[in-house]
Amino acid sequence: MRWHGVGWRAGAGVVALGLIAWAAFEIWAAPPVTQPIQFPHKTHAGDLSLPCTTCHERAEKDAVAGRPPTALCLSCHAGGDATPEIKKVQAFEGGGEIPWKRVWRLPPHVYFPHRTHVVAAKVTCQTCHGPMETLDRPPARPLKTLAMDDCIACHEKRTGRAERPAGPVAVVAARALSTDCNACHR
Ligand code: HEC
Ligand code: HEC
Ligand code: HEC
Ligand code: HEC
Ligand code: HEC
Repeated sequence: MRWHGVGWRAGAGVVALGLIAWAAFEIWAAPPVTQPIQFPHKTHAGDLSLPCTTCHERAEKDAVAGRPPTALCLSCHAGGDATPEIKKVQAFEGGGEIPWKRVWRLPPHVYFPHRTHVVAAKVTCQTCHGPMETLDRPPARPLKTLAMDDCIACHEKRTGRAERPAGPVAVVAARALSTDCNACHR
């Protein structure tokens, strides 16, 4: 275990691992999510091959990935013979954003920046979210979850690499990105 290597006391480690196991259970035990519209990722990201960031634009700019504005949906779904699901989309015309619910969610004390992973580290969305482009309806639960061990395992694998971008990321990496509690817990 890595913990002892970084000077952890065994007792604290056991307590933390217990909390982590509890948190992982909480994630799996979360009730299934029902979305207001049966949006099919397969049609859009699979068949139409729209890049993920067409709709989740902020993933390249910000900590959060965000959702597409209704106006973007309506740019393709405004008129014509609408199916019942498309009629629901059209009902939001001029009436604000569709109230999509969150499926992936870390505990509030964990900081996860999309931009760093998508742009600087070039990790694909699927590495963390699974094959979203194969879904013909919204996921009721995360296809894949990331426990603290998964985050750290990748950080450990990647810190050895030669080239690292300048700026705050490099500062964090120089302080052993893999084990610095403050990088992820703020
Ligand atoms: C680039 C154009 C484009 C954009 C943008 C787009 N769609 Fe679609 N969508 C399509 C096409 C094409 C289909 C498949 C043919 C059809 O059913 O109209 C489709 C199918 C669908 C379906 C399945 C319809 C059914 O009843 O089977 C839903 C629901 C849907 N889209 C919702 C949305 C929502 C919500 C958004 C915005 C988040 C969106 N679409 C954005 C082009 C688009
Ligand atoms: C046409 C727009 C569109 C495209 C393209 C698209 N998405 Fe989405 N995405 C949505 C909408 C709308 C939702 C909310 C409904 C749902 O969960 O299906 C969503 C939800 C998600 C969620 C769940 C977020 C949460 O609540 O926790 C993830 C993860 C996701 N998308 C990843 C992807 C990935 C990865 C790709 C590329 C393979 C992609 N999306 C392509 C529109 C899109
Ligand atoms: C290194 C892992 C990782 C990668 C790569 C990643 N995500 Fe995420 N994503 C997460 C985690 C973890 C959460 C939950 C974040 C939280 O609760 O603070 C999340 C949440 C989301 C959400 C819902 C909350 C939000 O931020 O709006 C969407 C949508 C999403 N991701 C889409 C994407 C898309 C699209 C890509 C690729 C462009 C992507 N993600 C790449 C790990 C990742
Ligand atoms: C690379 C990111 C990362 C680093 C570094 C990290 N953690 Fe975490 N930690 C997480 C994530 C993500 C979770 C939530 C998911 C889970 O419980 O596995 C978490 C959960 C926890 C929890 C469980 C809290 C709860 O919500 O029940 C504890 C305790 C914890 N971390 C302590 C630490 C300590 C102490 C360190 C430094 C030795 C550390 N973490 C370093 C990402 C990280
Ligand atoms: C597949 C690999 C991978 C996974 C999984 C991953 N990361 Fe990272 N993460 C990286 C890399 C690589 C960097 C450093 C970027 C660089 O230096 O280019 C990084 C950097 C970071 C940073 C510091 C950057 C900043 O802007 O402050 C934080 C915080 C972070 N990750 C949190 C997390 C958390 C939390 C998780 C799990 C929910 C996670 N990461 C999962 C690869 C990963």
